[in-house]
This record gives sequence, structure tokens and C-alpha cells, in this order.
Amino acid sequence: MSDFVTMAEMGRVIYTPPSGPPQGPGPNSAIYRIMGEANIFRMISDFYKELEQSEIRHLFPPNLEESSQKSAAFFVTILGGPPLYFEKYGPPRMRARHLPFEIDESARQVWLRCFEKVLEGADVKYQFPMEHMEGFKDFLKSFSAWMVNKA
Ligand code: HEM
Repeated sequence: MSDFVTMAEMGRVIYTPPSGPPQGPGPNSAIYRIMGEANIFRMISDFYKELEQSEIRHLFPPNLEESSQKSAAFFVTILGGPPLYFEKYGPPRMRARHLPFEIDESARQVWLRCFEKVLEGADVKYQFPMEHMEGFKDFLKSFSAWMVNKA
């Protein structure tokens, strides 16, 4: 699927955030070096447990296990690790992959709140290096803004 999906194909009007794709360097790669793959997979698994209890549960498939694995593979790369997502699932094209799901600003806020909860005490839970937490949260804010596709 490309980003140039027509309204007829999607059956709805696609909103494009005027800010455009996220700019900037992305999270510090020391995060992966310090946490390692297993901690990142655990962190994302806990994040999906939060999503499961949230108001945006309906957007996700019934079984969240595969979703969690896919997201974890993506975050490994984002945080400075090997290209796991690309190897298993192909080019990320994240905005295009999110287009089938109606994501508005309030869904984004719920998504961010779920992440916020998981990141509380992340140093103890997942060895997250807290000096890079602010940069990571900035990344989540700007990347998630680009996933919004409904006004
Ligand atoms: C703005 C709020 C967001 C919402 C409501 C949302 C929702 C969703 C939904 C419904 C799916 C499809 C179900 C699944 O396979 O998991 C999905 C997939 C995914 N999301 Fe998000 N997402 C958001 C933001 C993000 C952000 C900011 C990232 C990464 C930084 C991300 C990473 C992923 C990944 C890697 C997948 C799997 C794609 C695939 O291979 O199919 N999402 N998301």
C-alpha cells in the first residue's frame, strides 16, 4: 500500500498532518546498547498490555501478540539496534501501514499515555538509560503526530 491511497480505496477522507513527516535525529543509539533486545521486547509487551486496557483497544486485532512482536522489532531498530523489522516485515512505511486504522488526535493521546505509563520507572524495569528519556519521548510525540490520519 502506498501513501497515495485514494479516498475511494479507503472509503474515507485521509487527513495529512500539515507538520509533515518527523524531522530530527531520532532516539540515541545508546538506548539499545544499554537495554539490549530482550528488555526492549519486554517494554513493548508491557505497552501492548496497556493498550489492551485502553479506549483504543478496538483499533487493534483480537490477538495482540503479533502486534507486540512487530512493534518490538521496529523499536529495536529505532533505539539503535539491528534492522529486525525490515528483515522480517519489509520496508517500515509506517504512515502507510497505519492508514487502514482511523487514528485521530485523541487516539494519539491515548497511545502516548499508554507509553507514558510504561516508561515510569523504566530504568529499574528495563534498564532504560534515563538521560535519554526526554529525547525518546520527543521522538514518540513527533512520530505519533505523523501517524494521525483522521481529522
Ligand atoms: C498515534 C498513535 C498510534 C496508534 C493509535 C497506533 C495504532 C496501530 C494499529 C491499530 C496498528 C495495527 C495493529 C498491529 O499490527 O499492531 C499499529 C501497528 C504498528 N504500529 Fe502503531 N499506532 C500509533 C503510533 C505508532 C508509533 C508512533 C509507532 C512507532 C514509533 C508505531 C509502530 C507500529 C508498528 C511497528 C506497527 C506494526 C506495523 C505492521 O507491521 O503491520 N505506531 N499501530
